[in-house]
Amino acid sequence: MGNAGTLAVFFSRSGENYMVGNIEKGNGEILAGMVQSMLGVPVYEIASEAGYPADYDECSKAAKAERDMNMRPALRYPLPDMAGINAVVLVYPNWWGDLPMPVYTFLDSISTGGLRIYPVCTHEGNGIGLTDRCLAQAYPEAIVMRGAAFRGTDVQEKREKTEALLRSYLKDSGFTF
Ligand SMILES: Cc1cc2nc3c(=O)[nH]c(=O)nc-3n(C[C@H](O)[C@H](O)[C@H](O)COP(=O)(O)O)c2cc1C
Repeated sequence: MGNAGTLAVFFSRSGENYMVGNIEKGNGEILAGMVQSMLGVPVYEIASEAGYPADYDECSKAAKAERDMNMRPALRYPLPDMAGINAVVLVYPNWWGDLPMPVYTFLDSISTGGLRIYPVCTHEGNGIGLTDRCLAQAYPEAIVMRGAAFRGTDVQEKREKTEALLRSYLKDSGFTF
């Protein structure tokens, strides 16, 4: 398997962040940039049109409310061209043990039949949790592959370690460099 037909997709939030204070680039955005340069694939950002409060606690509350209501927030950017795309490296944070709801908006909006999804989850202690299973449950027609988990603080502070772990995950997953 080569990298043709692969798209890197990320949801990531900058602003006040758990443990590392205010950051300019979210953890997932950094990881997605690494995926993009390692594999030479295009990247698409999932963002909610309304955005989220910069304040961590306020954001937590907003995210929880969206999740409790199983919302599909409108997306800020037009959908990417999915013609010829058969694999998505999906980078997202663990939010309340689930994926941020705009990620579901995105996946609901594209054709996921036979699409290979590689879940790459950043977190602050709970790992990938059940998020890969949430994906498999919500999109049974997709092929949810083995995922990877990265501690957000490591992504910010331990770039070399993060790059090495990401490279070996992508290699083990069959991507080429
Ligand atoms: C609304 C919200 C909920 C979160 N819930 C969890 C959680 O349940 N478990 C966990 O380990 N980390 C949780 N975190 C921490 C994030 O997963 C972690 O900081 C992640 O790396 C953020 O990625 P980003 O910078 O790309 O947005 C949460 C963060 C936010 C903002």
